[in-house]
Amino acid sequence: MSTGEGQEKGKGKGKARFGIGRFWSMVLTLVVVYAILKWAIPAISRQITNLPFPLPVPGTLIFMFMVLTVIALFLLVTFSQAHLDEFLRPVRKLLRAEYGKPPLIAVLCAVPLVIGWQVYDTTVPKIAVPSALRIQHPSSNFPKSFEALKNPFASPTDAEVAAFVEQAKANEVALIPQVMGDVERWMEEADPDHMLAFIPTRPMQRFLEQLADGNVDTETARAALVEKHLFEGRALYAMNCRACHGDSVAGDGPMADGFKLRPINFTDNGTIETIVEGYTFWRVSNGGPGLPTEATPWDSAMPEWKLSLTEEERWKIILAEYDLAEKTPRIPEGH
Ligand code: HEC
Repeated sequence: MSTGEGQEKGKGKGKARFGIGRFWSMVLTLVVVYAILKWAIPAISRQITNLPFPLPVPGTLIFMFMVLTVIALFLLVTFSQAHLDEFLRPVRKLLRAEYGKPPLIAVLCAVPLVIGWQVYDTTVPKIAVPSALRIQHPSSNFPKSFEALKNPFASPTDAEVAAFVEQAKANEVALIPQVMGDVERWMEEADPDHMLAFIPTRPMQRFLEQLADGNVDTETARAALVEKHLFEGRALYAMNCRACHGDSVAGDGPMADGFKLRPINFTDNGTIETIVEGYTFWRVSNGGPGLPTEATPWDSAMPEWKLSLTEEERWKIILAEYDLAEKTPRIPEGH
């Protein structure tokens, strides 16, 4: 054969560079590229991001890079007749049974079996559990003790109302620290008669009028205290939940489009209106990580708020959440 000389040269070159011949160095390159995409990049991403989990390379991207690698290797191998001959030599040797009969038979049996298995695997009808709609309100791990929980900020006790009236008389109402900076700045600029005057709603304004007249009735004060809680809840909502659930509480915050499982639209009749407050509290506290398996197939991005908000803050947000959505929670059975 006329390529005999070229073969010898190619062989010499390939061996000198890799020591394993052109065919095996190509196979090795493919394996190394795959390993980098599959394991090395996720491992490095973990170092860079400091997250407790690796960021995997998407399957389609791996496929694209592998195709590019194969094209590059093909160009390299077909660069000259010598390269091609050297690349094909182990294949030819195998086919001529120069490695012996058993390897030839093994490979000739394995190739159709692997291809056949692949074809079978992609075409065989799959028997799978019928796809079910996601259960919006899974309750298998919902602690029953939460069921009758009432929002402590929705109906303040007489003692709480009395304490609030005293604070209001002294013009020193306790507000959550998160809003104090803004309220103080507003008081400096507007110099109001009372620090609560910035809450424009009717119950609060009526309370402030009664306070100025010196005859406060308890129910008006109670309603004003709930207004104060609502204000705090709205502020906490804006700080923590707005990005996903949106200004309009319709699940359309600026981050909402980034999730396959969209943040819940609280104005929808099928969401927070159908559940008791204790359930909402449990959902907000435990977020996506606290959901049982029937809440799959998509993982919820809802954070686990018990890690970063106090119970008081969570209840105040829930009060504001129902109010903003103009919904009332479901009343627990037997109440
Ligand atoms: C990172 C985005 C994100 C943030 C921030 C976020 N949520 Fe969510 N939330 C979601 C997603 C996504 C869902 C829907 C999936 C699910 O059911 O868990 C959800 C669901 C909920 C539900 C369940 C409603 C129902 O009917 O089952 C409640 C209640 C809720 N969020 C309240 C809050 C509150 C309160 C805050 C702020 C303290 C908040 N969320 C902040 C993403 C977010």
